[in-house]
Amino acid sequence: MNKLQVEAKLGRVEGQSSDMVVLFLFEGETTLKHEAAWFDKALHGAIIDTIRTGEFDGKAGDVLPMHAQGKVPAKRVLLIGLGKRREFKLDALRQGMGHAVKRARQAKVSGFIGTLPPVFPKGCTAVDVGQAMTEGTVLGNYQFTAYRSDGNGTPRHEVTQFTLLVPDKVRLKQAAEGVRRGTATGEAAVFARDLCNHPSNVMTPSRIADEAKAIAKETGVSLKILEKKEIEELGMGALLGVARGSHEPPKFIILDYKGPKTAKGSKPTVFVGKTITFDTGGISLKPSENMEQMKADMTGGAEVLASVRAAARLKLPMHLVGILPVAENMPGGRAMKPGDIVKTLSGKTVEVQNTDAEGRLILADGLAYAARLDPAAVIDIATLTGACVVALGQFAIGMLGTSDALKRRLQAAGQKAGERVWEMPLWDEYFEQLRSDVADMRNIGGRGGGMITAAVFLSKFAEGYPWVHLDIASTDWSERERAYIPKGPTAIGTRLLLQYLIDHSL
Ligand code: BES
Ligand code: MN
Ligand code: ZN
Repeated sequence: MNKLQVEAKLGRVEGQSSDMVVLFLFEGETTLKHEAAWFDKALHGAIIDTIRTGEFDGKAGDVLPMHAQGKVPAKRVLLIGLGKRREFKLDALRQGMGHAVKRARQAKVSGFIGTLPPVFPKGCTAVDVGQAMTEGTVLGNYQFTAYRSDGNGTPRHEVTQFTLLVPDKVRLKQAAEGVRRGTATGEAAVFARDLCNHPSNVMTPSRIADEAKAIAKETGVSLKILEKKEIEELGMGALLGVARGSHEPPKFIILDYKGPKTAKGSKPTVFVGKTITFDTGGISLKPSENMEQMKADMTGGAEVLASVRAAARLKLPMHLVGILPVAENMPGGRAMKPGDIVKTLSGKTVEVQNTDAEGRLILADGLAYAARLDPAAVIDIATLTGACVVALGQFAIGMLGTSDALKRRLQAAGQKAGERVWEMPLWDEYFEQLRSDVADMRNIGGRGGGMITAAVFLSKFAEGYPWVHLDIASTDWSERERAYIPKGPTAIGTRLLLQYLIDHSL
């Protein structure tokens, strides 16, 4: 459970006693207003001095801690830069709060306070601002210490409270709703990061099933776990094929959340998450360099679990189904071999030319299963291709799909969440590359357009409903620590999915 609590309260930061108060400042502005002016005056012009001397210039990412030495009731004042006022975006607040919570931890502060920024980013309400500030705080505070033997896995110092003080009742109500949303989306990403951080010897397909059980127990969401025998009976030959090389039996998990005000027989929104608990490549073995990162090849599934849990916690008025095809991709003695042909749940056959293109195989069965639920829309999310990393680098999620309306909605949600998508073409011409001499298609498309051919493969199973595929191979793992993104598993995509749900249900 996350120890950090964020709370919105009626009040002003001026005159409030605390261990630390956060003050937001824009770049290049030398006349202070509002609470910043009050603090500057109380500190005998110390804030203005740091700006005039250039020690602090308000650039995004700039942080300056000052000791108040009894001149104000707060022990410390932390200046946080938001960048240029004209370019102000929600993400500056997320980043600012990410820096703030880390400084609080360094200073061994347990609780700190702050207020809304003097102006809001264009088109944003106090709900959005409260949400983004909460997300930055919760996400920036993230540490994975479960396997540290010093201190029994608990971090050395914990920040336990951030209080957002809002001076008027109208904005307080909005900010409090933002805090409620941001706590749910932030904690969802934290939960997904934890699942991805656990090594594959712990986070096995059975453990994923246990996590789903725990969610069902906590939230009352209904849960179906198909075991190997039922997966065989249904005819999910692609999922079974991928799991063959492993001693860990596959699972097929269905979480069904029906929120308040959902009519009987309402069409569900369905999320399908790639859940490969470790991807060795199988017989088409991967090189060993960076292979340890393949413990996070279950990120899509982790994000789907996290979003269903958060949707239930937020009591979103909607019908949401989360589907996880789960397996471990190993080169065991009974493993699938290049050239093997599998029959998918849809009835279509696939020649497995490369066992390392396993994600699209398990998703083929997941997407065909989704069709049986008569969905309003299906979004799959997957660490699917190295080609996505090559094409998009670290900052964009690959997006391809058959529904323009759904794509536009995800684009908007991504902007808001700071987890942006970039569209690639899903043209049927690319199917040429997937033709097989012996089966309905093969599972790799050869050189060129690897992210696209993977999605075109999926499209053959995502039939009969509006569908979008998100390739998160580019963003799921960060090489460096950022303001609110840790080194390692990022869980990027979780807040995108949740923002989409929030925007279209609340
Ligand atoms: N899980 C990988 C994709 C991946 C690569 C995710 C790097 C994150 C970082 C996927 O299963 C895979 O191995 N894809 C192959 C497909 C190829 C054989 C057509 C790839 O991209 O190399
Ligand atoms: Mn693979
Ligand atoms: Zn994979």
